[in-house]
Amino acid sequence: MNIKEYKSYDKMCKHVSEQIKYAINFNFMSEYFTLGLATGSTPIGVYTHMVTDGWDTSKVYTYNLDEYADLPYNHPQSYEYFMEEHLFAYKQFRKSHFPTEANYRNYDIMIRRFPIDIQILGIGTNGHIAFNEPGTPRDSLTRKVKLTQNTIQYNSRFFGDDVNEVPTHAYTMGIESIMRAKQIYLLANGKHKKDILEKACYGDITSDIPASYLQEHKAVDVLYCD
Ligand code: PGA
Repeated sequence: MNIKEYKSYDKMCKHVSEQIKYAINFNFMSEYFTLGLATGSTPIGVYTHMVTDGWDTSKVYTYNLDEYADLPYNHPQSYEYFMEEHLFAYKQFRKSHFPTEANYRNYDIMIRRFPIDIQILGIGTNGHIAFNEPGTPRDSLTRKVKLTQNTIQYNSRFFGDDVNEVPTHAYTMGIESIMRAKQIYLLANGKHKKDILEKACYGDITSDIPASYLQEHKAVDVLYCD
């Protein structure tokens, strides 16, 4: 995996949005296209471009990587709310999925029916992808997880800087389904991500840094800007 550095966040996000658009157009003969979506601050610019660059998403199925447990879907910090705010309110998708208490046991089976063509990923400062925290095995499936203190602390900025407001658990797509995506874009924005990104790309493949499993994937583009 080679890290491609971008001069600006906007250019990095525009590139990913365009790649998705090309892939959808290229697959115009197939009945559907499947996008794996991420939340967090990093992919917001990609969604902004997807909205403003105007293209048809009506045959696109989406699978989000994760969702907090014990937050109602219309809570402003739920990931469903996030997607509505940044993308779904503006773009019509065929069907959108989130891992929840009701469906997480079937999530991997659902994904196998509509395999993910492109997966967007962020990376946590502890090396997590989705909520696959350090220690997650390579063959992990979609499941309910306990969030680490590092992640709770990092995400508390969205909860009025109060760690007690951050949910302690979440549902996350496992490494197994992420690795099945045909193409992956791993994005990182900011100097605070550089060190972990280098370890994930060039260091040992280890469960201590779940993002390092991506070294075994054949089609990962790693994009960074500071
Ligand atoms: P961020 O989160 O995009 O808000 O930095 C990324 C992540 O934790 O996966």
